[in-house]
Amino acid sequence: MIFEPFTLNGVTFANRILRSSVGGRSAQYDGTVTTIWKNFEKRFAEGGVGGIISTTLNVNKYRKAPLEYPPISEDRYVAPLKRFIAEIRATGCRYLVQIGDPGYATQAGLFPEQEDTHSASRGLDLIYGYGGLHTPLSEPQILHVIKDFGDAAVRVREAGADGLELTASKGYIIHQFLNPAINRRRDAWGGDAERRFRLLGEVVKEIRARVGADFLFGVRLAAEDCNHLPLNLRWPPTFFRGNGLRETLDQGRRLKALGVDFLHIDSGFGFIHPRVTPGPFPYDEARIFFDQVRHLSWKAALRASVFHLVPRFLGRWLFNLGWRYREGINLGHAHRFKQEVGLPVIANGGFQRQSSIEAALGDGRCDMVSMARALIANPDLVQQFKAGREQPDNPCTHCNRCAGRTATSPLGCYDLSRFPSVEAMQDQILAWNRSDP
Ligand SMILES: Cc1cc2nc3c(=O)[nH]c(=O)nc-3n(C[C@H](O)[C@H](O)[C@H](O)COP(=O)(O)O)c2cc1C
Repeated sequence: MIFEPFTLNGVTFANRILRSSVGGRSAQYDGTVTTIWKNFEKRFAEGGVGGIISTTLNVNKYRKAPLEYPPISEDRYVAPLKRFIAEIRATGCRYLVQIGDPGYATQAGLFPEQEDTHSASRGLDLIYGYGGLHTPLSEPQILHVIKDFGDAAVRVREAGADGLELTASKGYIIHQFLNPAINRRRDAWGGDAERRFRLLGEVVKEIRARVGADFLFGVRLAAEDCNHLPLNLRWPPTFFRGNGLRETLDQGRRLKALGVDFLHIDSGFGFIHPRVTPGPFPYDEARIFFDQVRHLSWKAALRASVFHLVPRFLGRWLFNLGWRYREGINLGHAHRFKQEVGLPVIANGGFQRQSSIEAALGDGRCDMVSMARALIANPDLVQQFKAGREQPDNPCTHCNRCAGRTATSPLGCYDLSRFPSVEAMQDQILAWNRSDP
């Protein structure tokens, strides 16, 4: 099954394996993509994946997450993307662009900015984003968010991508509106599940109207939010898990009715999260990140201090509670979406072994599988599968160090156990970040 082509709204993928979004500091300071960005993406294409889903390109000019990640919030970003996407597509690999708006989950800025605190309602999230209290968006600001997404979708099409993925996951702004604990509004944009879905629904309608019915357009959706207190503080305190499968399957049905072509299923609320990147919590890398943004707010400073005040052995133990690797962690959920919503489904999270992927596709539990970390470790994984390997000789350990480093360091594998020396690991990282002469 892995090597059977698959077609979604007129776009044919040569095989069933996608590289899912991998965001990193690969753009200029102003967000223009560089040849480093292109070469990074191209390596997966040359390694044989059927398609690539870009990092989340931000649609809002001010909410950058973080700096040096490529956005798509202005027309000037289109021309360089177009040139590079054409080069990546020339390998035969399909290219989808993911768009999103982090809302309060904006991770880093040069200076604290009011824009970076915007969300559905007032609240405080101790882990994600750097701002203190969130500020609720006004109705005109919500309408602006919808327009931002529509404008960005047009740019994706102009840039020559094969399709578009909208992120309603990762604890980003759409997810913040979907989530009953973050979204405490009592107007037309919050309250019951229908009103919490309204922002996503309006964004989807806007995108479809602007790109047309013939453009491939899917949504990345979290099957279960799993966000617990005390990471998100509210008054009065309420213990919650956010949306569960019952609510998200309903969201899936609504998305189908609105003309979405596929669903890309993960879970969790925020990045990084044990349901998004199953494996250990990258404690040392998180500490580097929290240190780097500690100047941005009292919350960011407090968070960084906690990571230094608590002894390392204790902190590592504490923050690892609930974090462990599980192969194909969201496959069961993907299956439910396939059965109950009836749209083509991409499953994400913790895949690496050929037999498990083959079984997932063969049993009809999903239509495609997307991977990030296993491909960063072995960009030629698909070719290795083709040669009959169950998994590479030097497989990804799903240690999550690459995920923990994404906002602070060049992209690459940071698991020293996979390399004979630190120098060899550094060489590999620099090879990933190769620019054209
Ligand atoms: C370094 C790194 C960067 C990532 N950047 C993004 C991103 O920009 N947008 C997104 O939706 N997911 C992002 N992810 C999540 C992956 O797309 C994927 O959902 C996750 O890693 C689980 O898949 P895996 O187990 O195959 O790695 C990133 C993951 C990693 C490891």
